[in-house]
This record gives sequence, structure tokens and C-alpha cells, in this order.
Amino acid sequence: MQWQNNADLTAQNSFGFSVTAEHYCKVDQIDQLEDALKDVEEHGWPLLVLGGGSNLVLSEKIPGAVISVMTQGVNVLVDDEDSAIVEVGAGENWHDLVGQLLQMGLHGLENLALIPGNVGAAPVQNIGAYGVEMSDCFHSLTAYDMQTKGLVQLSAEECRFGYRDSLFKSIEKGRYIIWSVRFCLSSIFKPVLTYRGLVDYLAEQGINQPSSHQVYKAVCDIRMSKLPSPAIIGNAGSFFENPVVSEADFLSLKLRYQNIVAFKDRAGFYKLAAGWLIDQAGWKGHIAGSVGVYDQQALVLINKGGGDSVALLALASKISDSVESAFGVKLKIEPRVYP
Ligand code: EPU
Repeated sequence: MQWQNNADLTAQNSFGFSVTAEHYCKVDQIDQLEDALKDVEEHGWPLLVLGGGSNLVLSEKIPGAVISVMTQGVNVLVDDEDSAIVEVGAGENWHDLVGQLLQMGLHGLENLALIPGNVGAAPVQNIGAYGVEMSDCFHSLTAYDMQTKGLVQLSAEECRFGYRDSLFKSIEKGRYIIWSVRFCLSSIFKPVLTYRGLVDYLAEQGINQPSSHQVYKAVCDIRMSKLPSPAIIGNAGSFFENPVVSEADFLSLKLRYQNIVAFKDRAGFYKLAAGWLIDQAGWKGHIAGSVGVYDQQALVLINKGGGDSVALLALASKISDSVESAFGVKLKIEPRVYP
């Protein structure tokens, strides 16, 4: 394990911001992680553990230490007649894993194809798309506990998954470093076709009983048509969470805006499509110098090239102010802003 000083993290954050970390290292062995953490403690460095960098807004200079967890491997632990438990290193690429499982005939994650980032980051915000959340196929994980200084196993219940939420984002932020994740997958394909756009897309192609490959392909096609590839246009997917409002607030908004897009959430609450609110407030395709709002999906903020976190957060706060004054709804930023 070797620290790199003033390391360039431009390629390690999906916004493609020009970012320098004071001290940076990569680890894929537990003793390397322990050595790195000793240095961090000794010097009193603030610490950022980097996954794929696809859900992060980093400022130009990152003080202290940044550690990338690079653990690899996709291993079948249990293979029953109709299900399997697969353990995956935190440093594996998420989309590659989805493709690999498909080849192995193990199902459940097809709807989460093309989500950027690494496997270790997936539980942090409980990634979700097209009617499926990672927690639907989650079994357990192994993490390094910074408090007890050792590896621990955490069950789904202990991880407290919610909508774009988990233990790692909320009450135990900064305590655990995710090392490997276990998924419970099915060898029998049961398509999840609850997301209207996916069903419509398949129907347009005359498919009503899709195979796993067809669902995977449809999700890839839909994502490519709506969401910019971070390899081409810097972005972090949805920049805001879809806000949840009470039924009363939803009904009063619905009276004023008949076309408002919303979905039933837990009893008595509705989830509003933030993309619709931002779009209606006139921001879709808006460019503010080096940053902007994607012209196919208003929920996605982009780096036009040469942008930075200051410009991006200034734009984000203008957007949320304008949505709040138009609709009375507060938007919450989805990616982590660091430091
Ligand atoms: N909409 C507009 N204008 C826009 C964008 C959206 O009117 O500019 C409307 C759409 O017409 C649609 C509704 O808003 O009726 C919802 O849009 P979409 O289906 O694109 O999904 P979303 O709610 O904006 C969420 C996730 C995405 C995920 C998709 C598909 C959040 C914050 N975002 O977006 O996740 O891919 O659903 O399941 O929950 C991410 O988290 O980074 C992400 C991309």
C-alpha cells in the first residue's frame, strides 16, 4: 500500500471534475486497509472512502486521505436448485456484475443494468431503477468496522435499507467500509414489470413475456436514451431525490397541476417525480456556463466540461429554490457532497 500525494481524481469522479486529493491509495487486502487506516489515524486526516465515484460531488481540493477499495471477485457461495448466494468484491463494477450474473443464469438484478459505480457503493444508497432496488436481492455484506477495528457481517435488516438510503448514509455514516457484498439470486426468471416505461418499451417491440436478456436490453436502451453516459458527459445520475409528500399536499398540488407525476408511496404519502417539477419550472436543458441540466432528463445535472462543484451546487440551489417557490416542495440532493 502506497500513498500518492496530490493525486488527480478527475477520472475517479463521474462528474469529471478536476479534483486533487492530498493523500490517495488503493487497497485490496485487509492488511493494506489496516495500514492505511493507521496512517489516517496517526495524522488525524479526514477520510473519504471512494467507490466508483459515481454518486459524489467533490470539491477541487480534498483534504486528508482518500482510499479506493478495489476488492475483486464474483464467487458462488451457495447454489441451490432455484437460488444462489453470490459474494462480490466491493471494487467490482456494478454493470459488469449485472451482465455476468445474466450469463450465469442468475436473476434479479436485470432492471439495475447500466447503473454506474462499484458494487461496494450500491448498498450505501440502495441503488434502484425500473421497479427494483438492490435491497430486493441483497443477502448480507462484509464491512470493516472503524469502531471495533475488524471485519463484521451485516444482514439486510441491520443495513436498514430505504429509498436511496441505508445505515451507511444515515445513523452510521463513516463507520463501515464495505468490503464485499452477498446477493441472493434466483435461477428462475421472474420479470419485474412494474415500471410503466419498461412495460411500454417492451410492448412497442411486441414483447409481453420477456426473457431476462430482453429486460436487460430494454433497461439499457431506456437508460441510454434518457441518461447521459458519464464516460461522455460528466454526471451523477439523478441529482435530487424524488420528494415524498403527504396525501393532503399531493391532492392540493394535483388540483393546481393536473399533470403532476406522482406515485403512491407508503400509506398516506406520495412520491413526486422531481424531474417533472424541475422540468415544469423551466430548467430542462438550461446551461449555466460550465454546468447545466441535461436536456433529456431534468433530474440530471451535468458537467459541460471544465465545471466544478461550486458552479454545480450554485445551479442546484437555484433549481431547488425555484421548485420550492413554485410548488412548495423542498428538494434533497441525492449524491454525497464532499468534504
Ligand atoms: N419527467 C419529466 N421531465 C423530465 C424528467 C422526468 O416530466 O425532465 C417525468 C417523466 O415523464 C416521468 C417521471 O417524471 O413521468 C419520472 O421520470 P423517470 O421515469 O425518468 O424517473 P425518475 O423518477 O426521474 C428515478 C430514479 C432514477 C431511475 C429512474 C427509473 C430517483 C431520484 N431517480 O428517476 O435513478 O433510473 O427512476 O427507475 O429515484 C439515480 O438514482 O441516479 C437514477 C438515475
